[in-house]
Amino acid sequence: MKSISLLSPAKLNLFLKVINKRPDGYHNLVTLFERINLYDEITLTLNSGSRIQIFCDHPDVPVGAKNFVSQVAWLLKEKFAVAQGVSIHIKKKIPVAAGLGGGSSNAAAVLLGLNKLWQLSLNHQELVNFGKRIGSDVPFFLCDCSWAIGTQRGDAIKKIFLPTKLWHILVVPRIKVYSREVFTRLRLPPKMQLTKKMTDVNMLPALRRNDLSYVGKLLSNDLESTVTQLHPNIIKLKNKLRSLNTLGECLSGSGPAVFGLTDSQRHAEALKSHLAKTFKQVFAVRTV
Ligand code: C5P
Repeated sequence: MKSISLLSPAKLNLFLKVINKRPDGYHNLVTLFERINLYDEITLTLNSGSRIQIFCDHPDVPVGAKNFVSQVAWLLKEKFAVAQGVSIHIKKKIPVAAGLGGGSSNAAAVLLGLNKLWQLSLNHQELVNFGKRIGSDVPFFLCDCSWAIGTQRGDAIKKIFLPTKLWHILVVPRIKVYSREVFTRLRLPPKMQLTKKMTDVNMLPALRRNDLSYVGKLLSNDLESTVTQLHPNIIKLKNKLRSLNTLGECLSGSGPAVFGLTDSQRHAEALKSHLAKTFKQVFAVRTV
């Protein structure tokens, strides 16, 4: 085998509860991940030399050592003393640094691809252990599932089987949000407030019943107030979605991506046409 092409999907967080700060500086959290049909395309090709080369068509994606893909490829190459080089082409469709997990998803795709191409025979847990070192969202993307609960750093994954498929309108404003800054500024709400809506308890039953209105009400993200303090326009964007009859609106990850839950594909696509007049990065997306 000389070459592998992979689709690298994005995710949304239907809820994200921050529990506490850990001694290692990260935060323990509980989140519900949903895999969506917005994909980057990644092609790995063995090259004639021993180098790792990254090619990407997006100006905001670093092709050097800062790139998650480059980090993961070097990690495997050095650990297993792989002589062969690889050229990695990334065709970006997932907005960069948006809270959609694009970089982590790319890293997971490259882990899976290089495991085959370099014939490393790593099992799932070994891949997860490498993935965790690159980013907290990588383990979710290594799991072949539509839904999962993430705990600890968001990197301890429990797959959830749900027959439910949701449609969303997804808008990514052109502002830069840095996860590290958001987590650093975060002031944890008092414990009572944390559990007020019991989101983490009620969300899965609501999804199982396909009770979309209740799912919409339960969407929540503990990072949202910190992000909106930095970028108040995100509140306007949520209000805009609400005025267009979405069933609930929420920030994904540490943003700036905001999504609204819609009751149908038709509604999501109608909103996309409407919002595309104002926003450049608008998508109608569904669970995959
Ligand atoms: O692991 P990831 O690349 O997603 O993390 C980016 C930054 O977000 C980390 O450097 C850390 O400051 C913060 N973070 C955190 N707790 C988490 C995940 C991320 O504090 N569970």
